[in-house]
Amino acid sequence: MSKASKIEVPQHIAIVMDGNGRWAKERGLARTAGHEAGEKVLFDLVEAAIGFGVKELSAYAFSTENWKRTPEEVKFLMGYSRDVLRNRRDRLNEMGVKVQWIGRPQRLWKSVIEELEEAEKLTKKNKVLTLNMCVNYGGRAELVDAATALARDVKRGKVKPDSITEKTIEKYLYAPKMRDVDMFLRSSGEQRTSNFLPWQSTYAEFVFMDVLWPDMTPALLWKAIEEYSCRDRRFGKA
Ligand code: FPP
Repeated sequence: MSKASKIEVPQHIAIVMDGNGRWAKERGLARTAGHEAGEKVLFDLVEAAIGFGVKELSAYAFSTENWKRTPEEVKFLMGYSRDVLRNRRDRLNEMGVKVQWIGRPQRLWKSVIEELEEAEKLTKKNKVLTLNMCVNYGGRAELVDAATALARDVKRGKVKPDSITEKTIEKYLYAPKMRDVDMFLRSSGEQRTSNFLPWQSTYAEFVFMDVLWPDMTPALLWKAIEEYSCRDRRFGKA
């Protein structure tokens, strides 16, 4: 029997890849070296996740709050995201990964948007795993954008206020078909959600690992899945 068949594997894992800066600092390197190491880990874990049977993975690559970093780090993260998307897309496509961009276009570099859209176009028919690249994403921003779009449709008479349900709200999120998050994983020992997928993580199990993101491995991801699998998920039932 394979490892995966004994354990309940989460269908959708959301990841806060935290600790790149500290990892670099410990080694006397620039923070950007931590992001480079973290990028490699992300793609190793995408491959591992496919092997474990995970169907969807959301990676918090750049948050709406990350604009507060130094102009040098923001510039690096923008240029690096553009290059990573360009360099990784063919391999992701070969692996059957569907890339989906989740986030706001405002302020985002045009070249980053172009690479995200190119990756989406290339991989749109893939079904093995959906990789949500959360770039310029913020959970509150997503809900504000959904409320704005919904309010416009109410004004136009397309939606009746009394008919609004949770399903209606979901239709206005960035990726209406995104599964609910089963396992929310954050590295680096910090225990907070930092505005990541609040609507979708309402019933997620939280796994916080005391490992800096560049030190994450497929074996540690499996350990997190084992911890998830031990949880008793009741979804409000007794
Ligand atoms: C958090 O660590 C990490 C980020 C804000 C950036 C995450 C980006 C990558 C892993 C690079 C991959 C890029 C793509 C497009 C996949 P931190 O910088 O907050 O670390 P610290 O808390 O130790 O300072």
